[in-house]
Amino acid sequence: MIDPERLPEHVGIIMDGNGRWAQKRGLPRYAGHVAGAQVFKTIAYYARDIGLKNLTVYAFSTENWSRPQEEVSRIMKVLEEFIDDALNTFEKERVRIRFIGDLSVFSGTLSEKMNRIVDVTKDFPGLTLNVAMNYGGQHEIVHAARKAAELASKGLLKPEDITPESFGKMLYFDDCDAVDLVIRPSGEKRLSNFLLWQSAYAEFWYSDILWPDFKPKDLDQAIIDYQKRNRRFGGV
Ligand code: IPE
Ligand code: IPE
Ligand code: MG
Repeated sequence: MIDPERLPEHVGIIMDGNGRWAQKRGLPRYAGHVAGAQVFKTIAYYARDIGLKNLTVYAFSTENWSRPQEEVSRIMKVLEEFIDDALNTFEKERVRIRFIGDLSVFSGTLSEKMNRIVDVTKDFPGLTLNVAMNYGGQHEIVHAARKAAELASKGLLKPEDITPESFGKMLYFDDCDAVDLVIRPSGEKRLSNFLLWQSAYAEFWYSDILWPDFKPKDLDQAIIDYQKRNRRFGGV
């Protein structure tokens, strides 16, 4: 059983394995993204129900643009459909939604819808859901370094004032600078450029389950395992 008093403050999920899930069924890869989006909704709302406060899901990386154009457009369509659905249901679901990543590449109706869902959900107090889109951990750190350099060049920041704490506040969000638990299904054991700065002391949970097969009980299991870990943060 999950101990509700000791929930991780911030959980990250690398939603991986959509393509293999589809291929195993003789379906085109995009069918896996469609199935994965459904699971994304189920897990996000389940996370809210069990009382999680911060969930960041990796939906599209800065490296995923290297996929065939057809697959990229399908993924973007699936993300837009997720936002459409959220725009229809946000009053009932009451989840605060934000996007994390270099969002400057998104334009037109997709960008308008992203802004709208962020705006209409910004005051919901329960779960904050960060959707990582065109996200890369290295890009995020470089973005923060550029901010610091810009302030320094204007004389507004002294080099010695740059500390892990102050630098962490220059990341895409100043209020989510550590992730406690990173979950990666699909069998891969790597970060793939996800929350590099924030995962300095994260606990990892891996599983061979492909993302479209991921169930609320798998999230439970990851949190139960997390609660058994001894987090020392370099101490004894
Ligand atoms: C994750 O599933 C979704 C995205 C990267 C957008 P994949 O598409 O990477 O699925 P696999 O890893 O090829 O099975
Ligand atoms: C990571 O998965 C990105 C997302 C899940 C959005 P990838 O499938 O892109 O990662 P690699 O290529 O296996 O490292
Ligand atoms: Mg993958």
